[in-house]
Amino acid sequence: MNKTSLRFYKNKNNLLEIKDLKKYFPIKKGFLANKIQYVKAVDNISFHIKKGETLGLVGESGCGKSTTGRTIIRLYEPTDGKIFFDGVDISNLSEKELQPIRNKIQMIFQDPYACLNSRMTVGDIIGEALDIHNLASGKQRTEIIHDLLSKVGLNPDHAIRYPHEFSGGQRQRIGIARALAVKPEFIICDEPISALDVSIQAQVVNMLGDLQEELGLTYLFIAHDLSMVRYISDRIGVMYLGQLVEIAGSDEIFENPAHPYTKALLSAIPIPDPDQSKIRKRILLEGDVPSPINPPNGCRFCTRCAYATKKCSEIEPVMKDIGSGHMASCHLL
Ligand SMILES: Nc1ncnc2c1ncn2[C@@H]1O[C@H](COP(=O)(O)OP(=O)(O)OP(=O)(O)O)[C@@H](O)[C@H]1O
Ligand code: SF4
Ligand SMILES: [Mg+2]
Repeated sequence: MNKTSLRFYKNKNNLLEIKDLKKYFPIKKGFLANKIQYVKAVDNISFHIKKGETLGLVGESGCGKSTTGRTIIRLYEPTDGKIFFDGVDISNLSEKELQPIRNKIQMIFQDPYACLNSRMTVGDIIGEALDIHNLASGKQRTEIIHDLLSKVGLNPDHAIRYPHEFSGGQRQRIGIARALAVKPEFIICDEPISALDVSIQAQVVNMLGDLQEELGLTYLFIAHDLSMVRYISDRIGVMYLGQLVEIAGSDEIFENPAHPYTKALLSAIPIPDPDQSKIRKRILLEGDVPSPINPPNGCRFCTRCAYATKKCSEIEPVMKDIGSGHMASCHLL
């Protein structure tokens, strides 16, 4: 390991650092199913998240956002690469070794209903997290449950009700209360608002912001809606076909996008002002996203990029700093 990479791993301001992370899913193909191919869902990505920061992760469906989140929390075993949480390499820890860290990293999902046991009361759903980790019992347990319900904008009386008695937004709040029960430091939010009505989305996002401030939380916020991601994130990472193509501060990404793919994504965001909307040129992405089983050689975006040259299909561009930590991978930069 060289000195530069050592420094990368030892930055105390970073709660999470991932380095060259890969997650390949083996699949069997062919008549006799004897040939194993791999879905390269996450293919060599590196980024860090500072303590108390929110990193937004965006990109088209299937680009590997959820797989990145699930691999970081070790729901999936990484194929290669390193995951450092608060300076500790957790990429190869056994389930037993991971136990003390499991509480510190929580995940909330797009469909909270699927993750909430319909036969348990809300109080027991939240209390279960406390029980598993022996965090509280008796009166103290009840008090913590009531406190958590208040924190997420629900009523302590809701503890005796069942998940089906709540709206989608309220269920997401229950999922967040359950995640908070174990006092996490880092929460991976995987499209937590995508299934909610637009009016409710802002409420949940604001609540996540308030909780972050109150509890000093760090977030990885995965989402489709770029406007919402800008609002909640300090920095934004853009993924394409299993790779990170650009990462920078939120305003920088919106005002100075560098990668042709980021530019195309941003050009598709609706503008409420009709005059501005007429002036803005929408960049249409031609063709489908290629298969992550056989991604294109060179730059993965070359089959859809309006600026692609011969070099793009032969040589893979590397991430480079184009100023003040704004990183992007494109031969044009
Ligand atoms: N368990 C799995 N086995 C095989 N392939 C998988 C598995 N999970 C995900 N994939 C594949 O990995 C790629 C990335 O999927 P992932 O769910 O991470 O994308 P995503 O960016 O979260 O998409 P979305 O925006 O639709 O949620 C996709 O091609 C997907 O089909
Ligand atoms: S490297 Fe080439 S194909 Fe890739 S984004 Fe840049 S110009 Fe387009
Ligand atoms: Mg996903």
